[in-house]
Amino acid sequence: MTYQTLLVDVKDGVATVTVNRPDKLNALNDQVVADLRAAVAALKADPAVKGVILTGAGPKAFVAGADIGDLATQGVLDGRERALSGQAVLNALETMGKPVLAAVNGFALGGGCELAMACHIRIAGENAKFGQPEVTLGITPGYGGTQRLPRIVGKGRALHLLLSAERIDAQEALRIGLVTKVVPADQLMAEAEKLMRTILANGPVAVALTLEAVHQGLEMTLAEGLRLEANAFGLVASTQDMKEGLTAFLEKRAARFEGK
Ligand code: COA
Repeated sequence: MTYQTLLVDVKDGVATVTVNRPDKLNALNDQVVADLRAAVAALKADPAVKGVILTGAGPKAFVAGADIGDLATQGVLDGRERALSGQAVLNALETMGKPVLAAVNGFALGGGCELAMACHIRIAGENAKFGQPEVTLGITPGYGGTQRLPRIVGKGRALHLLLSAERIDAQEALRIGLVTKVVPADQLMAEAEKLMRTILANGPVAVALTLEAVHQGLEMTLAEGLRLEANAFGLVASTQDMKEGLTAFLEKRAARFEGK
């Protein structure tokens, strides 16, 4: 798999996707969005890929936002199209059925913060900076910021960040729950891989169904979500993975899951 603006490296089931425009702080121009669309489809379809780590090239930025040069030329209708098309790519990433982890290695602003929020888990290097600066440019967020940020950190904190455009550091992002771990910058990728390997050592069907239950359940009433959870709980009871997981515990050995 080769892309104009992405590096994709697959090693032992883990795909590392690096947005690769370091001279523009990995800003999301139309080509990056198109490449992400193609990469998500390819990684979803590839049975050798079990999980994805997303990061940015260079020491300064994860992704410093949508490309402001592209935004400067847009009108009402193509602006809406750009938002819908970017949202569709981020939705595809979020629902690809495999765990996706953002390793935030610097600026994650605007579309960069939105891209990180479409990932299932975010961990950050100490140098990471987060923010939704759109209103300073006279625009609104377009790749999910007004929707995912309040779902992750709560309405009040989200509105504080969205309306003030304040930039926060990794420790503040950890405090408000925007990321779940902060590590020294030079250990970020190793920590991301370690966490992904921990996830991938678990029952693959259980991991996939848990992702789905959390994602879909957040759109439901509690009663509907609990029913969805019960259905998943019943479904895993038919898997070899469940038999293996329970037997391995009783036999005091590590489970050998096959994703069946
Ligand atoms: N879109 C397009 N280009 C961008 C960009 C973006 N979102 N963010 C950074 N760049 C480009 C800069 O224009 C510059 O290009 P140049 O060297 O051709 O002039 C290059 O990346 C390096 O950025 P620079 O601003 O010189 O780095 P810095 O360390 O001084 O500042 C930031 C870093 C992130 C604070 C600053 O680049 C910034 O504010 N970027 C825009 C963030 C933003 O508003 N994002 C939301 C967009 S909706």
